[in-house]
Amino acid sequence: MTKPYYQKDKAILVHADTFDFLEKVKPESMDMIFADPPYFLSNGGISNSGGQVVSVDKGDWDKISSLEEKHDFNRRWIRLAKKVLKPNGTIWISGSFHNIYSVGMALEQEGFKILNNITWQKTNPAPNLSCRYFTHSTETILWARKDDKKARHYYNYDLMKSLNGGKQMKDVWTGALTKPSEKWAGKHPTQKPEYLLERIILASTQEGDYILDPFVGSGTTGVVAKRLGRRFIGIDSEEDYLKIAKTRLEREE
Ligand SMILES: C[S@@+](CC[C@H](N)C(=O)[O-])C[C@H]1O[C@@H](n2cnc3c(N)ncnc32)[C@H](O)[C@@H]1O
Repeated sequence: MTKPYYQKDKAILVHADTFDFLEKVKPESMDMIFADPPYFLSNGGISNSGGQVVSVDKGDWDKISSLEEKHDFNRRWIRLAKKVLKPNGTIWISGSFHNIYSVGMALEQEGFKILNNITWQKTNPAPNLSCRYFTHSTETILWARKDDKKARHYYNYDLMKSLNGGKQMKDVWTGALTKPSEKWAGKHPTQKPEYLLERIILASTQEGDYILDPFVGSGTTGVVAKRLGRRFIGIDSEEDYLKIAKTRLEREE
């Protein structure tokens, strides 16, 4: 087995290609998977950084040459994720319109049933500098379980209802982009806000459950999992990002 990059208490970080590592994970061992895979945005487009027009280049991990390659990437990692997920486990996958349609199709092709289509509505999105489109202000998070009639997924309905003032929690979640105060450990281009992972983990897991993030980046899933008493394994191919994740996890100790 690959030597962990970091291991303390119930949290493990692994420096590896997720395709290689997932092959080695014990089948049906994970209660929940949260994945924020590459959006494949870094292909010569432009974006807004602090009010400046910049070309989008998040790194080689975010580049792809064709639609077929993107869909093949999504089908392959989702297939491996399915193998390591327990029969009653669930998977959450976040993405923008650049990849989420491929992800949704891949989920169904690989034998998952989509449970929810969450819209994350950002209250402070970056303005659209080209002024030729509506401001992009949402991302999607798909929640799915294995498409098996016997599968019984866990949903903490009562907690979600009470967190929503006694009314059923809806599938539109509104909130700000990741706060600067959560970015203290270093720079990752797509760090997710902690409040999103908190809701996801509380809704779909119980204390002591095993959570896997195959594209862990700056470690947001691990930080929140640890805080909430869940066991965690995170994988990333970029050591610079794992360093940020490790620093953040160490503060949770
Ligand atoms: C969208 S980011 C995840 C950000 C993360 N949710 C966070 O809050 O920081 C995707 C991550 O996947 C990693 N990655 C891309 N391809 C990979 C692969 N084949 N194996 C492992 N990690 C990969 C990248 O290095 C990047 O950190």
